[in-house]
Amino acid sequence: MERRTFIHIGGLACLAGAAFSTGLVGCAGARYVDATLEGENLHVPLSTFATAEGRRPLSHVVVRHPSLRWPVALYRKSDGGYRALLMRCTHQNAQLKAGEVELVCPAHGSTFFTDGSVSQGPAALPLRELPVGSEGDQLLISLKA
Ligand code: FES
Repeated sequence: MERRTFIHIGGLACLAGAAFSTGLVGCAGARYVDATLEGENLHVPLSTFATAEGRRPLSHVVVRHPSLRWPVALYRKSDGGYRALLMRCTHQNAQLKAGEVELVCPAHGSTFFTDGSVSQGPAALPLRELPVGSEGDQLLISLKA
């Protein structure tokens, strides 16, 4: 095989591998939840994270509401708390895909850790984090600026 052909095939294989792995992260089966809005808070039942008995709870869900231009990725943290991240890429505002370990931008490939920090550009700024509280069996995500 000629060197040029080898490089061409190798490059295509790398691109296919990167696209495949990005796709896996991006569509890792996030559960979508339609929240209710009361005042400035989105209400999400804690039971949203529940799975079949004996299995660990979900790591994250995607919260939607008609008043939101971008959905919110709601992650369960290892310390028992929750983190809410607006799924708006800080590069050019594309909607992110939320996976278990990272959020991926389908527009230009930026990725973000689940703490909101950038893991790969071109985005340079972290995601907007929304405060999360709780009330009874509900999580409250504050939309207050
Ligand atoms: S809009 Fe997300 S990387 Fe450009």
